[in-house]
Amino acid sequence: MPIDQKYIQAIKNGDVVAFPTETVYGLGADAWNSEAIAKVFETKGRPSDNPLIVHVSDFDQINDFAAEIPEAAQLLIEEFWPGPLTLVFKKKPEVLDAVTAGLDTIAIRMPANEIALSLILETNPLVAPSANRSGAPSPTKASHIKADFGSSVLVIDGGSTQVGLESTVLDISGEQPMILRPGVIGKDQIEQVLNQTVLIDDKSSEKPKSPGQKYSHYKPKADVKWLDSEDEFEDTSSLFLLLNAETEQQNIINYTQDFEKLARELYDRFRQADLDGYKKVIIEPFDDRYDSSVIPALLNRIEKATSL
Ligand code: TXA
Ligand code: MG
Repeated sequence: MPIDQKYIQAIKNGDVVAFPTETVYGLGADAWNSEAIAKVFETKGRPSDNPLIVHVSDFDQINDFAAEIPEAAQLLIEEFWPGPLTLVFKKKPEVLDAVTAGLDTIAIRMPANEIALSLILETNPLVAPSANRSGAPSPTKASHIKADFGSSVLVIDGGSTQVGLESTVLDISGEQPMILRPGVIGKDQIEQVLNQTVLIDDKSSEKPKSPGQKYSHYKPKADVKWLDSEDEFEDTSSLFLLLNAETEQQNIINYTQDFEKLARELYDRFRQADLDGYKKVIIEPFDDRYDSSVIPALLNRIEKATSL
């Protein structure tokens, strides 16, 4: 897919450019330019101890960042790349400290999006955190980035992202693979490919292994809460996201148990709720008894939004 020269030049000049991926929009900068990376942190207001994911367009580029590629990684890359799975490797010494926030590991993924892949092909591997101000929900549309940054950030508009939640982050640098951030590619799918048990980082632990997990995230101004028996659908200051709605009303969105759709739309609903002046976003509870691989990721993001 041809990319307008102005975006390619901006990256080459050491500026940041927001671009679509299949998960959420990323705020891209050249992974080999520390000044450009500093701009990413500054633009987002991101704490400097929160490392970035490097996005590649070519399998060979992994070798520039990862010290070794374990067999497990090879299997997962074959199965899921390009796609919403980030792998954490032991890093090469050349990798810039600004990218890894001083950790001895490096997170890498290959996004399944033509615009993203073409942009990387024309430039370099790109660091790309979600293109939101730190603390706001990740952007799933170009207009979300405009809302956070005005016209100060260049955006390549690729429409709405398909997945809607950030990639699964899987650490394969240790003895046993561990999910640091759940995403649409679930534990079962990974275990099936590896034929091995995969651990899940305990969110309650004092020191999360994925630094980003300790920061407040994903939250609109409206309060997000789970539906309970006290809530009244007549309360028009609340937006209800329901799985099995019985009535049709402006403040009720019915997902008819389509969890992929809820994942795709969640952050947009959060942002739109603020624009529409809702005081609360109330979500019908669910658990992983439903058969959808996106449920742990949805629960993770909604729990974070409700607990703040
Ligand atoms: O879907 C995605 O992953 C999106 C799109 C744009 O690709 N990107 C994204 O980046 O969500 P960000 O920066 O918002 O989240 C990256 C997460 C953070 O939780 C960070 O702490 C973790 O990945 N991470 C990055 N490098 C790591 C490392 N070396 N070890 C452990 N966790 C790491
Ligand atoms: Mg983020």
